[in-house]
Amino acid sequence: MEEPNKFWKSVAKELHFEKWSDKGLEYNFDHQKGEVFVKFMEGAKTNMAYNCLERNIQKGLGSKIAYIWEGNEPGDQMTITYQELLEQVSKFAEVLRTKGVKKGDVVAIYLPMTIELPIAMLACARIGAIHSVVFAGFSSDALANRIHQAKAKILITADGFYRGHKAIDLKTLADKAFSICHDQGHDIDSVIMVEHLKRIRTPQGAIPPEVKINKKTDSLWNKEMEAASSKNLQTSKIEWNDSEDPLFILYTSGSTGTPKGLVHTTTGYMTYAYEAAKKIFDSKPDDVFWCTADIGWITGHTFGVYGALLNGMTSMLFEGVPNYPDASRMWQLVEKYKVSKLYTSPTAVRSLMDCPTEMVTDYSRDTLKILGVVGEPINRPAWRWLHKVVGGEKCAIVDTYWQTETGGPMLTPLPGATPTKPGSATMPFFGVDPVLVDDQGVAKKGQIDGNLCFARAWPGMARTIWGDHARFIKTYFSTFPGLYFTGDGARRDQDSYYWVGGRVDDKLNVSGHLLSTSEIECVLTHHPTVQEAAVVAAPHPSKGQVPYAFVVLKQSRTLTADLIHEIKQEVRNKIGPFAAPEVVHGACGLPKTRSGKITRRILRIIAEGDHKANLGDTSTLIDEQVIAHLWETRPDVQ
Ligand code: PRX
Repeated sequence: MEEPNKFWKSVAKELHFEKWSDKGLEYNFDHQKGEVFVKFMEGAKTNMAYNCLERNIQKGLGSKIAYIWEGNEPGDQMTITYQELLEQVSKFAEVLRTKGVKKGDVVAIYLPMTIELPIAMLACARIGAIHSVVFAGFSSDALANRIHQAKAKILITADGFYRGHKAIDLKTLADKAFSICHDQGHDIDSVIMVEHLKRIRTPQGAIPPEVKINKKTDSLWNKEMEAASSKNLQTSKIEWNDSEDPLFILYTSGSTGTPKGLVHTTTGYMTYAYEAAKKIFDSKPDDVFWCTADIGWITGHTFGVYGALLNGMTSMLFEGVPNYPDASRMWQLVEKYKVSKLYTSPTAVRSLMDCPTEMVTDYSRDTLKILGVVGEPINRPAWRWLHKVVGGEKCAIVDTYWQTETGGPMLTPLPGATPTKPGSATMPFFGVDPVLVDDQGVAKKGQIDGNLCFARAWPGMARTIWGDHARFIKTYFSTFPGLYFTGDGARRDQDSYYWVGGRVDDKLNVSGHLLSTSEIECVLTHHPTVQEAAVVAAPHPSKGQVPYAFVVLKQSRTLTADLIHEIKQEVRNKIGPFAAPEVVHGACGLPKTRSGKITRRILRIIAEGDHKANLGDTSTLIDEQVIAHLWETRPDVQ
């Protein structure tokens, strides 16, 4: 694209600006030439919530359904129109103001997939507060860490919810997070709790969580909303934010263990999310869009909330899991709600493709037009199954490659326009300039394998890491000066198609959830019995990758089944259930070079169980015997 700036400003023209700015993208990626920064349309004034709600209502979409909510139990359902959503958002914006939340304050949101989640996000956007949504599958420690790092003023949470048969005690987890925050010297002003349990059905055999209310800090969502209603307000006052005012913080795993709070700002992110949802899902007025990603992840932010609403779409919000009550749930919902655009993950596809085909074909999928995937590489059999069985060979498949940091897709086919190849995210999105470089940072042309970087800024990219711009520069701009480095390896083929292979750093991708190995190692080495630990990624048939932990125990300790359970539980509690190691391998030592560096390459081969693999040069190891011992003690799957 010759003139990305002109293009992106023409996209922005389709949105509402209270004050326009002729400035386009301004940026510097080269830290050797000065401060790294990115700006888009600096000086313009707009509001994300206004663009999602009033702008669409003025176009006559007031009575259109914005969200269809389906609960964990089949039959638990509701809908909300754009007009109703505006009323709820306006009221909640007033609630936040009454609680003392001002422009620039951080509001932590720890909610299941209920309608209050987008309401709370939009209410923050409306008053210029910054939301920090924490995925409701995260532990108390992870929540506390995120609240503390962002100095969140208040927390929005719920009493609890169910995932399949499992009850999740959300309020208890939030309470624990508070006491952790309190110990760290950061107290939250107030908590607003949604009473969700009493309006949903309890799955058979599940025990509803017991909920404690702290009179000093806690208040109820409904009571607060009633109080706001009594003020008889029509719509609450809008804060016209500057283009570069932060819209939200979203945390992603960091290599050093502490998560990174990526900051997305207003106009650039809004313009990118709008255009991405419009073009990649070919948004049409009668669409029913279902983005299955939890709103707690970037896909849910960009597509489940902002991209969908900016385009005036009807979208689905599903609180349950794809295999409850059985593995046909997704296809039942596609039929029931006449879903036309489905955006899901390779993990979900892989976990459902092993079920009998009738579980899919018994339900009508005639309305489906586009099937999107994101989060991890999709293997060819999964791609083909999605295309053939789910899409009946008549749907476009869009494999979209992007990151929390990028705000929206970077490599993606455009449905109907880009010929696809199973497993390739194909070509760059508008104005995106991918570069593959070797380990020395030399850009390579033509057919090549390399480190995936981007040479030019795009409006939707994160601007910084909350409170730590130096870390932002170090993580993304220092490996290859002048380029944004994704951390992924990729191949470009003879047709200039990109094939993203996976992380070339110490991250692992479990079911599309990015984790850092050091984050898990940190938890393991804090366990009183563990002397040393190393975590590597091992392949898994449905989850893509899983953590495989090597642990060296302190003298006189033995790795019993109970201890393995306890160690896994510790990771569950400290990070979240998805981070728990699949295997805990008791080791007498770890292979290390004389300089003390753990040779992870060898650990990866052992975790994969690939006896035939070439271990490479092992002569630099302090103790070569360790390798034989690790092979001998390699456990069968636990
Ligand atoms: O490794 C890439 C993988 O997911 C990482 C980003 O994870 P996260 O920030 O959690 O955002 C996920 C949702 C946008 C990337 O660095 N990834 C994402 N999409 C793909 C992918 N790998 C291969 N193909 C994809 N389509």
